[in-house]
Amino acid sequence: MHKRYGDKRALDGLDLTVRRGTVHGVLGPNGAGKTTAVRILSTLLRPDRGRVEVAGLDVCAEAREVRRRIGLLGQHAAVDEELGGRQNLEMFGRLYHLGARGAGARADALLERFGLADTGRKPVKQYSGGMRRRLDLAASLITDPQVLFLDEPTTGLDPRGRAEVWGAVRSLVGGGTTVLLTTQYLDEADQLADRISVIDGGRAIADGTADELKARVGGDRIDVVLRDAARLREAAALLGDGVVVDEDRRRLNAPAQDRMAALTRTVRALEEAGIEAEDIAVRRPTLDEVFLSLTDRTRDDAEVAA
Ligand SMILES: Nc1ncnc2c1ncn2[C@@H]1O[C@H](COP(=O)(O)OP(=O)(O)O)[C@@H](O)[C@H]1O
Ligand SMILES: [Mg+2]
Repeated sequence: MHKRYGDKRALDGLDLTVRRGTVHGVLGPNGAGKTTAVRILSTLLRPDRGRVEVAGLDVCAEAREVRRRIGLLGQHAAVDEELGGRQNLEMFGRLYHLGARGAGARADALLERFGLADTGRKPVKQYSGGMRRRLDLAASLITDPQVLFLDEPTTGLDPRGRAEVWGAVRSLVGGGTTVLLTTQYLDEADQLADRISVIDGGRAIADGTADELKARVGGDRIDVVLRDAARLREAAALLGDGVVVDEDRRRLNAPAQDRMAALTRTVRALEEAGIEAEDIAVRRPTLDEVFLSLTDRTRDDAEVAA
């Protein structure tokens, strides 16, 4: 899909395919186009160009039908601060024509589901950040949507609030809801998403499971921390190609494609050379490294193209 705001290209051919019943992470930095994409997918904004379908329906031609099948948790949600959590949900239920009894029952079920049953009567202004977001999430589920959009659901929350919201999102999985979740947090996509599209500059620059993305960056790495910084160079020579030396931390980092073999080889080589290691570990690259490497690569490409 394509979308411009004046001269500004917010979406520049973004292509997304989300499998039914999965959580799809859209991972990108500020300004990447995440909110624009969510607004188009949820019929709040029309794309300039491109064909966009949600739940098998065209978002432009069949916007009303799409709206009936989706839920949206925006970056700023619309709950009433003065009312209690239960009252808020009940109000949403009535708005969606569930009827007084239906709305009440739905509110109770959702409060229970997101661990808010005890605080349902408290005014929302007394809620913690994590509780508020769980209430927002409950509100977006009033209509039992087939597809749910979560735009940066944990931005601004403290670690505890994030953990609470993660738990709530996980509880949706398996209920059959298809979830599209945007985030700038690499660990969040890693934790919650079945598949991830990395976006930058209004288009997808990579797509895959967290493991696939990590593998694309070049596979596992081995970290070695030495006792004696003076022996870093010597140890680096033993580790072979692609070693990164971090003098301050007395640390070496090298590719370890064959994991266990690399670990064994390194331990032996250091031992034979009489170099003492404080710590040795084989690890997968973090999504931070993946992201940096992918965005660097596209920037390099762009420079070459220009
Ligand atoms: N209403 C708007 N008018 C002009 N530019 C906008 C508007 N909304 C977003 N943009 C620009 O479009 C780009 C994508 O924005 P957005 O979709 O909000 O990104 P994200 O949600 O990933 O941070 C950004 O460069 C942003 O400044
Ligand atoms: Mg945004």
